[in-house]
Amino acid sequence: MELSRRTAIAGAAAAGVTTATVGGTAHATGGRKPVKELFGKLADGTKVHRWSLENGGTRMKVLSWGGVVQSLEIPDRKGRYANVSLGFDNIEDYVAKTPYFGALIGRFGNRIAKGRFTLDGKSYQLSVNDGANSLHGGTQGFDKRVWDVEPFTKGSDVGLYLHYTSADGEMGYPGTLKVKVTYTLTRHGDWRIDYEATTTKATVVNLTSHVYWNLAGEGSGTIENHELKIAAGRYTPTDAGLIPTGELAKVSGTPFDFRKAKAIGRDIRDGHPQQVLAKGYDHNWVLDKGITAKPEHVATVCDPSSGRTLKIATVEPGLQFYSGNFLDGTLTGTGGSTYRQGDALCLETQHFPDSPNHSSFPSTVLRPGQTYRTTTVHTFGA
Ligand code: GLA
Repeated sequence: MELSRRTAIAGAAAAGVTTATVGGTAHATGGRKPVKELFGKLADGTKVHRWSLENGGTRMKVLSWGGVVQSLEIPDRKGRYANVSLGFDNIEDYVAKTPYFGALIGRFGNRIAKGRFTLDGKSYQLSVNDGANSLHGGTQGFDKRVWDVEPFTKGSDVGLYLHYTSADGEMGYPGTLKVKVTYTLTRHGDWRIDYEATTTKATVVNLTSHVYWNLAGEGSGTIENHELKIAAGRYTPTDAGLIPTGELAKVSGTPFDFRKAKAIGRDIRDGHPQQVLAKGYDHNWVLDKGITAKPEHVATVCDPSSGRTLKIATVEPGLQFYSGNFLDGTLTGTGGSTYRQGDALCLETQHFPDSPNHSSFPSTVLRPGQTYRTTTVHTFGA
């Protein structure tokens, strides 16, 4: 341990980068070019690559398949690293059975009722993959596509550009959608995601990232003791298919009130009808700040046992907090443990689910000539 730490510092010094102290451990803060390796092959022989990045004390592994964050390592309060993101150690599991572990989500984050919407008087039928509804872009969303990945170093930042072009009509969505996602690791160890898209026909778009967080380390058990704070006085209740009813309900006096930090497990067995429908938390919080030009801090998660914290800032108006309700002990993760209900949480920054069918929700329409842009920043601490 001591030896490898010294070796890392010596390596950083040799590369001419500076070091900083996070939680008692020295980390390189200069940008080194991301490293590429072969991760696996799809059934048709297509190669899937894995990129390793490190900056400011954060280490990350990203796949060209789905833009998946396969692992994200950060130190605890004593400087000990753990991978805090659920994932698989092989491509076959990502192809066959992933519940969106670490993936980029598109064209539309969360559900669209019956996979149907009308735009400019035209009706569209999308791919349906969640009961009667379309979830996270349909049967073959952006999480199940091979992205073109290009590394960069810019000043003290390191990162990846991920490109994917979704054909006109893919999964039922109109317009050719050209997408560029930028993953940046800053010298402070923040992970920033910038999304951009343009279209050739009027369409709807709502991109997000589906990392499953466990700040005590993936495979270490439940996140019920993690403390969560969300700056939202309202949320969008759903029907039994988890489609918003259209109401913006107050969180006050309900288990959905995370305006002050509280343990996720504290009220999760409250029996509120909305929790019973969702088997826990699986709802969109209406962020008090609304849509903003710059990312604003909206949520904080803290694991008291390790001291690790995650802060999320976004320009988006909504945040889906999902308490890992559908994890059922059938998937084996990177560290060899099976994942059970509540072993991770997702915080998906987004426009509200089913927006194309709710004119009162902020619009998700993108037209030719416009550029869709959205940003979310993850800041880690201990
Ligand atoms: C989102 C949804 C959940 C679930 C997960 C993936 O968070 O809201 O209902 O589908 O994705 O399993």
